[in-house]
Amino acid sequence: MTSFFDQDEMLAILDWLQAAGVDTAVGDTAHDWLARGNEAPGAGFAWPKRGEERPAAAISPAAAPARPRATTSTGAPRTEPGRGEPGRPRAATPLGASEAETGARRIARAVTSLEGLEAALKDFDGCGLKSTATKLCFYRGAPKADVMFIGEAPGRDEDLAGKPFVGRAGQLLDKMLAAIGLSEADVHITNIVYWRPPGNRTPTPQEALSCRPFLERQIELVAPKMLVAVGGSAAKEVLGATEGIMRLRGKWREVQVGEQKIPAIATLHPAYLLRTPAAKQLAWMDLLQIKSKL
Ligand code: URA
Repeated sequence: MTSFFDQDEMLAILDWLQAAGVDTAVGDTAHDWLARGNEAPGAGFAWPKRGEERPAAAISPAAAPARPRATTSTGAPRTEPGRGEPGRPRAATPLGASEAETGARRIARAVTSLEGLEAALKDFDGCGLKSTATKLCFYRGAPKADVMFIGEAPGRDEDLAGKPFVGRAGQLLDKMLAAIGLSEADVHITNIVYWRPPGNRTPTPQEALSCRPFLERQIELVAPKMLVAVGGSAAKEVLGATEGIMRLRGKWREVQVGEQKIPAIATLHPAYLLRTPAAKQLAWMDLLQIKSKL
């Protein structure tokens, strides 16, 4: 094949792509995703049909299954700004994402084990991240655990290993666990999305929404006594809040998952701690809260 570019030009293009955050080749030819319209990744996801029933594309909020809902320490329901209040339509969620959520919920509900959930995730095409990721990152640690850590999204190392938190941030997370007498065998570690976002960008709300029914089912199956949201994105998703991580961290709340109310706390992300070592003292205070709750 003749190339329009010489070697130096090709290297310059690769440098430019890398600087723009592209670090994974996912095919031999370039795709114009925007030109694909409804065929973009995740769009047109087909959920299992129940008889001839039309799936609730227009999700009826009243009939919508419970999402984890944070309550204040007094137990009063916390409204979820931007997500709509119970009984009211949610703020704009693209149809594709809510359809994916509905389909995902139906699939996740039918599953009764973590193995079943992993198999269902492998079959699930409702999250666009799957099309650019190498591997599914389901969980690391114990299948049943008192503490469940929920991070933001797999990074490059996790994508290659197929397990959450195995890179530098994960190694620091392990050290943080060890500092309060815990090891991988004592905890269950996962993320709000199960596939790596390209270039390690933050997952979009739609991507998190499409994975959420699986996360909720995972929480039910692991049956932890407490949830720890790791970093700002996970804190917002798990606690149903909009405040920044500095406001959210270090305070116990209650999160409703299915029938259960589970204590939940947010802490700083180890990737942030690697960049900002001075913040480790705040993370240490959060860890002590987790230790004393245990
Ligand atoms: N950061 C996360 O939030 N999750 C991982 O699995 C790895 C890095």
